[in-house]
Amino acid sequence: MLCIAGYNLCKSYNDSNQNIQVLRDSTLEVNEGDLVCITGQSGCGKSTLLHILGLLDAPDSGRVVFGDREISSSFPEAPSIRNKELGFVFQFHYLVEDLTAKENVALPMIISGISSAKAQREASTLLGSLGLGSRLHSYPNQLSGGEQQRVSLARALINRPRIVLADEPTGNLDPEHSAEVWQMMQKLNKDRNQTFVIVTHDIESAKLANLTYNLAQGKLNLLS
Ligand SMILES: Nc1ncnc2c1ncn2[C@@H]1O[C@H](COP(=O)(O)OP(=O)(O)O)[C@@H](O)[C@H]1O
Ligand SMILES: [Mg+2]
Repeated sequence: MLCIAGYNLCKSYNDSNQNIQVLRDSTLEVNEGDLVCITGQSGCGKSTLLHILGLLDAPDSGRVVFGDREISSSFPEAPSIRNKELGFVFQFHYLVEDLTAKENVALPMIISGISSAKAQREASTLLGSLGLGSRLHSYPNQLSGGEQQRVSLARALINRPRIVLADEPTGNLDPEHSAEVWQMMQKLNKDRNQTFVIVTHDIESAKLANLTYNLAQGKLNLLS
């Protein structure tokens, strides 16, 4: 069943009189439960594509579809979809330094209207299942890079989004911590049937995906 799709996406940027055409008629269909990887050279438009799929940016033309819902270009429904159905993981974790791991993870749930006590309980459980049960009260600067990235994954997952969009989630990690985060994403994909779209430079890890695409010259090509 179709989960999220972008059809015939075009996007260009105007940069000091120069027009850069980043996406040229790119189409991507992701089914429920897929773990899709997108690779491609730096600057080829991977982040642009992920931002458009995540309704953080609008395409110049083309369509974005969530399940059976077409998202209009002005997307008035975007904030609700972003909060309830989508989770984002970025290359830099953007955790709030003044909040503990548990408080960081609870935040999106509190914003969605759940009581702080319940959100903190859920955050503890989720962090426990990500192997961070002993680090609940640690601040981001007391955690290793891999731990910080797992906390950021937990924050993306706390509202149980159907779709997780991850932009180079292991781009700043050493191989060992990178492997930890990949294992976690695979496990969540299998155990909870959550759909993942992951942008990565890491060709080896991309082999874990059930579909891998390469973005080049503004088009997506299926690799495997
Ligand atoms: N807001 C922007 N204004 C102008 N150019 C941009 C903007 N965002 C991205 N670009 C350009 O678009 C191209 C694709 O960027 P990006 O999607 O970030 O690539 P990737 O994530 O694959 O490295 C790059 O050449 C980048 O410089
Ligand atoms: Mg990028």
